[in-house]
This record gives sequence, structure tokens and C-alpha cells, in this order.
Amino acid sequence: MQKLICKDYEEMSRTAADLVAKEVQAKPDMVLGLPTGSTPVGMYRQLISMVQNGTLDFSQVTTFNLDEYYPIDASNPQSYHYFMDENFFNHINIDRQRVHILDGRCEDVQQECAQYDARIRDFGGIDLQLLGIGGNGHIAFNEPDDFLDANTHLVSLTAQTVQDNARFFESEDQVPTQAVTLGMQGILSAKKIIILASGKNKAKAVSEVFTGKITTQNPASLLAAHRDVIFILDEAAAGL
Ligand code: PGA
Repeated sequence: MQKLICKDYEEMSRTAADLVAKEVQAKPDMVLGLPTGSTPVGMYRQLISMVQNGTLDFSQVTTFNLDEYYPIDASNPQSYHYFMDENFFNHINIDRQRVHILDGRCEDVQQECAQYDARIRDFGGIDLQLLGIGGNGHIAFNEPDDFLDANTHLVSLTAQTVQDNARFFESEDQVPTQAVTLGMQGILSAKKIIILASGKNKAKAVSEVFTGKITTQNPASLLAAHRDVIFILDEAAAGL
């Protein structure tokens, strides 16, 4: 695992966007795995500027988002569909046919999950997976547990994640308690992974990843088993 330590959130966002841009320029029809959350917003902003000033082209890029709340409608402002439109897709030249996000309103969750994994395989797998990390080490909605799921699946969110995400809602009881998410196999199959972390509330989870031990109690620690992972951290997240 490589570790890049940046001064602050802005530098982390710029560094990540520059790496993503380089990958897209090298392979314009790449398959990109995308996260939501507050961490990647700055990176998305930088990528939007590059598209708008003509130095980056997303027209051939295919995307797969990591996760979505369940149940939730795509038009709900709290959905990850809505988040991606607002923070990224509405501002870049992406072909909407190439955008994939799990359907938070599907009736048959198992079928939706299996089809999502199959679609990723049909596209030849994810070339570059971008990730955030939860304060408890979760990646996507793979929460710390004795066992982790390999494939895309329905998950119950931990109390900490519900609490962490409550800042996006009017009150904690409005936070959905379930989600659909890529599993560990889906994430670890990506050819390259870039994971971003900012702020001191991520420092403990990040430090555990660099102990050389792997534990399902910190899902991000499984990234140590992948051969091409870059952590981009600000000083606060790298503090421990
Ligand atoms: P955050 O979430 O970027 O909002 O901190 C990251 C995550 O939970 O994966």
C-alpha cells in the first residue's frame, strides 16, 4: 500500500483528482468505481473543473457506485443517486447510459445485487475504485463484523454509521437503517484502488490498516491484501 500525506483537505482532493485524471486520460473508456460521502466532494469539484476547462473527458467512462440506502427513492435528496447527480454527474460530460447505481427501490434486493455484480463483470471489472473510509473502518457499507459479505448485498447499518450520517438528515431517526452495497470481493477485484481520508475521526481506523494485520473488525484493513492501493490522507487522518 502506498500512502500520500497531504497538508489538508484541499490538497488531498487535488492529489486524488490528478491521479484519477491521469487514469482516465490513459484509458478513456475505463470503468470507475465511485463513492459518496463528504470526503470525495472536493475531488469531484476538481474533476468537474477539469472537464469544464476541457482537459478531461468523461464521455467514454463507465461508472459503478459503491452503495445506496435501502429503501430509498432515487429522487429523494438523501439518496446517493441524488448526491451523485448534484455533486458530479450533472456537471460533467458523462453518458448517462454508462452510469450505474444500485436501485434503492428495487423489489427483489437479491436479484438487484446479483445483477449489479454481473453487470460489473460484463464490463470487464472495475479499473479504478475510489473509496472513503468510515470512522469505524467500514468501506462502502461493509461494516465491522465477525464475517463480511463477498458479493453485493443488503446490510443493516451500525449505530455509529447511522449517527455519523445523521448530519445529512434533519434528525437521526430519518437515517435509513439499511443499505445495499458492493461486498469485499467487488471492491478487492478492482485493478487499482485509491482511498481518501480526511480529519482526525478517521485517524484510528487508518492507523489500524497500517499495522500489517487484517481483521474483519476493520474492513479497510483487507485492502492490505490488494497489490495496488494508494491511501491519500490529510495530516489529521494520518495523525496516528
Ligand atoms: P464521509 O464517509 O466521507 O462522509 O466521512 C466516508 C465513508 O463512510 O465511507
